[in-house]
Amino acid sequence: MSDLEGLRAVLTQPENDFGKLMSRVLSPARPLQSVEFLRGRAEQLNAIKRSLLQPGRHALIHGLRGVGKSSLAQTCAYSLADSEDAVLIACDGQSTFSSIIREVFDQVNGRSPTLEKRITEKGLSFGRFGISADGRVTTEEGRSSSPNSINEAVRLIRFITESLERDLVVVVDEFDLIENRNEQILFTNFLKQVSDQHVKARFIVCGIGESVEVLMDAHGSADRYFHTVGLKQLPWEARYEIVENAASALGIEIDENTVIRIARISDGFPHYVHFISEKLFWRVFEARNGGVVTPELFEKAMNDAAEAMDMKLRKPYEDATQKYQNDYETVLWAAADGHELRRRSSDIFSSYERIATARPQERLDRAKFNQRINALKRDSHGSILTGTRAGWYEFSETMIRGYVRLRAEQNGVDLEVDHPAVAKIL
Ligand SMILES: Nc1ncnc2c1ncn2[C@@H]1O[C@H](COP(=O)(O)OP(=O)(O)O)[C@@H](O)[C@H]1O
Ligand SMILES: [Mg+2]
Repeated sequence: MSDLEGLRAVLTQPENDFGKLMSRVLSPARPLQSVEFLRGRAEQLNAIKRSLLQPGRHALIHGLRGVGKSSLAQTCAYSLADSEDAVLIACDGQSTFSSIIREVFDQVNGRSPTLEKRITEKGLSFGRFGISADGRVTTEEGRSSSPNSINEAVRLIRFITESLERDLVVVVDEFDLIENRNEQILFTNFLKQVSDQHVKARFIVCGIGESVEVLMDAHGSADRYFHTVGLKQLPWEARYEIVENAASALGIEIDENTVIRIARISDGFPHYVHFISEKLFWRVFEARNGGVVTPELFEKAMNDAAEAMDMKLRKPYEDATQKYQNDYETVLWAAADGHELRRRSSDIFSSYERIATARPQERLDRAKFNQRINALKRDSHGSILTGTRAGWYEFSETMIRGYVRLRAEQNGVDLEVDHPAVAKIL
């Protein structure tokens, strides 16, 4: 069987097997852990790995939701040559400094149960974390963190690292979700102590937006302890690669035009690239047409994607547009045009004029347009946009912007026509 026939065979296998293969190459909702699938982040990955070679250095990855922080952090943690299997911790609103430390212990203990035994043998006690000398590991319910617990935490982490053959790497994800700022501060102070006291543990902390960076900066000397990465949207080339590599693994032939459209809708948020490709490749599988993407299949896939989109993203759009007169939709599409996340009202209006030429019956003048765009900031319209007095607008949740772009494309609107990558196909 030739390579090509081999690939075609992928498409004629049972649905279950095709789906399994697809889940290997496309993962819209799961962070990546392997460098094999991580696109467009080689530079950031290498920089983090290099800086973590320096003893006493941790990494901080911040950026918008869905931009790829967890994927970069986990891939990095798993690819550090001298490290144990990474410890992955997902924070939530109730997480505390103590609960994070305790979770590190629990995860390592789960993998090497001798940890508890050694604590008993040595008569150690980490009472603040619910770990006592008689070897009983209790729950730490009701236990609160305090500055005193920092030293104990450092001792505990040191003890853990000494029990391991290789280095300890911990990913602390969604750090921004921790509601109590004191707990966040305790944790950053702890990280400095880990460095200063030469404990062989490295932490990779992820969080949304600038808030995390601000927290670290407020502490001073952050540069000494942290390698900081502000993650931006995926570059075009990387978006193409995700689609093209997945297509070729599945024996699907996809034209450049469609690849660019997916990349364009995604706005550089890899979640959307995976999500739309997944819908599209299922349609191709079903079509049994020898594995060719057609405009009809793409259109169906966009509908599938729009319908399957997370309610959190769909709801504000519906709130914003399901009005008696629906001229809000065009205004929203205009707001999502271009590649800048924050846009000036006058630029949005230029986009609007371009988009609205194809829909003369609903075209608004500037005054009405201003009225509409302001309304989109209100509760009654899902607060889908936020704005400043100076006339700058952005989507209150960046992921919603991707959904709006999908809806625009679905309605035959071409966004971002001025982009060089797009100009290539027009
Ligand atoms: N560099 C990348 N290349 C390919 N896919 C990626 C990349 N980064 C993230 N993804 C995919 O995008 C989705 C969102 O990424 P994730 O790391 O969870 O973002 P964040 O943690 O910033 O919210 C994941 O499902 C993942 O599979
Ligand atoms: Mg994440």
